[in-house]
Amino acid sequence: MLAWYDRHRRTLPWRGEDDPYRIWLSEVMLQQTTVAAVGPRYARFLARFPDVAALAAAAWEDVAAEWAGLGYYARARNLHAAAKAVAARGGFPDTEAGLRELPGIGAYTAAAVAAIAFDRPTVPVDGNVERVVARLMAITDPLPGARRLIAPVAARFMEQEAPQARPGDFVQALFDLGATICTPRRPACALCPWREDCRARQEGIQESLPAKAPKAARKLRHGLHFLARDPAGRLLLRHRPPEGLLGGMLEIPGAPWREEPWSLDEALPHAPLPGLAWALRPGLARHGFTHMDLDMRLAEAAAPALPAPEGMVWMTPEAALTALPTAIRRLLPLADPPLAEGAGAVASDPPRARGARRRGTSP
Ligand code: ADE
Repeated sequence: MLAWYDRHRRTLPWRGEDDPYRIWLSEVMLQQTTVAAVGPRYARFLARFPDVAALAAAAWEDVAAEWAGLGYYARARNLHAAAKAVAARGGFPDTEAGLRELPGIGAYTAAAVAAIAFDRPTVPVDGNVERVVARLMAITDPLPGARRLIAPVAARFMEQEAPQARPGDFVQALFDLGATICTPRRPACALCPWREDCRARQEGIQESLPAKAPKAARKLRHGLHFLARDPAGRLLLRHRPPEGLLGGMLEIPGAPWREEPWSLDEALPHAPLPGLAWALRPGLARHGFTHMDLDMRLAEAAAPALPAPEGMVWMTPEAALTALPTAIRRLLPLADPPLAEGAGAVASDPPRARGARRRGTSP
């Protein structure tokens, strides 16, 4: 495996780094976002927050704005909280157990940073590792239950295969094998360094593994949001509460998302400024979160020049475009005149390409 990696490893922006901050950031970004999408955002994030002290000292608004469009905003909240803890203790812990104690660092991230930054012999189990191991051992139990069989096997491979000095390379070799050879569909078995040992290939069942338990039907929720514009054309935005979906991000204020669609009359008590002439716009904006689809309608009104109410801000459309999460940006084309939706949605669409490219977890 290591010989294969030395010849065929992908050139990626975080490869060859030994700064745990940079490794950690790459692993958090890669959790629900594709390698291709992470590349430019990783560089931009590091330009703005070059080290853990800079991130720890940053205002949450700036971290949130930098994360906008990447989705799964709990990642940004946890990143910021862990950066503060690391800065306070004077550096990263260098063991998996120590990393696990940082706020918001879960089993995967602790193992990935321990292996890649500190060469600790541990295997972070992502979708790639699950697929490679399930095929190699012909584990036919469905995920997610099969994870409990897969994790110890992955750990045993590391013991057998990796000379103790190279756990970080071994882990990344598994990632690359899963992403480039042992792909979800049509794996390139002929090119695989483990082709002779692969039980799924021997049985001809590689494409059907890993098996997955049927997913529960996605929920559908409805929202109605209120876009107020002041005489200068600025938009009234609100900070969402720190916990929950899109926690701590900006939004266009609205009625809570619920099972029943809202009528304008019913939603009016949730409008941000009293007494405006709200008009419902035609059309619907839909956003797919991992576990839920959201249908949103938009009401609009002209507002007088007023200070923003508590917890809200007036923002130019240009600034709003970069600061709003993708889900909320989808409302902007419904406005009159339409405010462009903006490009760059990457992580918050309904998960289609699972496995090699994305580990779906809750937002
Ligand atoms: N996916 C998650 N972490 C990765 C890494 N370090 N290299 C390549 N793909 C990854």
